[in-house]
Amino acid sequence: MDKRLYIETVGCQMNVLDSELVASALLERGYELVDRPGRADVILLNTCSVRQRAEDKVYSALGRLKHVKEHNPLVVIGVIGCMAQKDGPLVFRRAPHVDLVVGPSQLGQVPELIEAIAAGAGPQIDISPDRKGESHRDAKRSFLPFDPNRAIEARPAAHQAMVRIMFGCDKFCTYCIVPSVRGPEQSRPMDEIDREVRRLAEQASRLGVALEVTLLGQTVNSYQWRDGGQTWRLADLLARLDGIEGLARLKFVTNYPRHMTDDLLAAVRDLPKVSPYLHVPAQSGSDAVLGRMKRGYTAGEYREMLDRIRRTLPDAAVTSDFIVGFCCETEEDFQRTAALVRDGRFKNSFIFKYSARPGTKAAEQYEDDVPEDVKRRRNNELLAIQNAISEEENRPLVGRTVEVLVEGPSKTSLKRVEAGESTQLVGRTVCDRIVVFQGPQDLTGQLVPVTIRKAGAFTLFGETVDGRQ
Ligand code: SAH
Ligand code: SF4
Ligand code: F3S
Repeated sequence: MDKRLYIETVGCQMNVLDSELVASALLERGYELVDRPGRADVILLNTCSVRQRAEDKVYSALGRLKHVKEHNPLVVIGVIGCMAQKDGPLVFRRAPHVDLVVGPSQLGQVPELIEAIAAGAGPQIDISPDRKGESHRDAKRSFLPFDPNRAIEARPAAHQAMVRIMFGCDKFCTYCIVPSVRGPEQSRPMDEIDREVRRLAEQASRLGVALEVTLLGQTVNSYQWRDGGQTWRLADLLARLDGIEGLARLKFVTNYPRHMTDDLLAAVRDLPKVSPYLHVPAQSGSDAVLGRMKRGYTAGEYREMLDRIRRTLPDAAVTSDFIVGFCCETEEDFQRTAALVRDGRFKNSFIFKYSARPGTKAAEQYEDDVPEDVKRRRNNELLAIQNAISEEENRPLVGRTVEVLVEGPSKTSLKRVEAGESTQLVGRTVCDRIVVFQGPQDLTGQLVPVTIRKAGAFTLFGETVDGRQ
């Protein structure tokens, strides 16, 4: 068969990384990437189940792909990732033109399964058993990672890499589907992570670019690796990675508020390569809501944690997630959340309307009783408060020169530039702020001093210090 791959991703950074791992495994086997499903021999949709909308998006994309299949019956259509794990064989029933359903823990099998389909074996499915029916140990065995076989050379950008340091989640916040689709929390061995980051850094050095590594975990700061009677935590891991030559910046997401320990904050303060950027979702500012969510902390405790962060890391950028319209959320509850957003001075917040997920505790125990229009209003109100704060927090940067890791031409300019030509570039500060400025394309992957001239809520606009354009 011809080997042209089209892959589309929805969901969080875990999924972005998974797509990269699957694509690079296929590229190593001779595939090439194409940018339209109509031109592909294999179409993969990497899916998310965190909210209903994410699932709807996939099923409507699948609806559109029906014509592609009719036109070319040999095309292999695969649904992979979290929704594949959650819906399993239901995907075939809802979209009979799908050939392949693979969960997040079986992604290593994708190349072989595609070959089997191409050889005439018919539709294939590979997912983990429902976590609910398994012991913790058995569930750990069926939710296995495939990161260790990562094909470093076939990555899309040499200057940025995500490295998973843990899988799954055991927190079971009542609204959340992630623990059932991603399986039990498991930390990767420290040596294995160290080796992976070293290989990434060697590649970056060889290509003459600065490397930014983002360590990934659903509750990244509960990382724990036991070896020979000793326990290593995230602070220890950061200390070990910080010394790697060729590594420029080290970030980690997502943090769980209760595990934001002093030793971790001290590590962020003291280790030169660790970015003072902390994503620590609060979800709500109301104790009643937090209790029903089973988040394991009160709003007061979250505020105390924020104070500790500000004391140790006065210049840190803190970001958060909030859910509005969770079951039984009153106007008073919502006002408490609004107060937390006002007082928290987050760099930015992701705000979501509650979406009941079948199979979660909240969907079983509480009524999804906040009307859609109230959810929408609360969402907009919170966004407006946060956006004003984001802008206020960005404003003091005007006139200052910051170090930017250049990610490449901005999306709008991407198609029009020739090599060497000046274009609009986009990059990030050490605090994860987006900076747009004019410069030559070959600055991609470099650390560049940029003077900020204008600040919006989401973007900083600047110019290179030496006036290079
Ligand atoms: N592990 C991370 C986030 C995982 S999902 C954490 O604990 O923070 C990313 C975000 O999606 C969550 O922080 C939450 O704000 C949101 N989310 C999760 N389930 C949701 C649901 N059922 N409805 C709406 N938003 C949800
Ligand atoms: Fe979901 Fe909570 Fe786990 Fe985050 S910590 S992935 S919100 S269950
Ligand atoms: Fe979605 Fe799975 Fe991430 S459900 S948010 S893609 S872990």
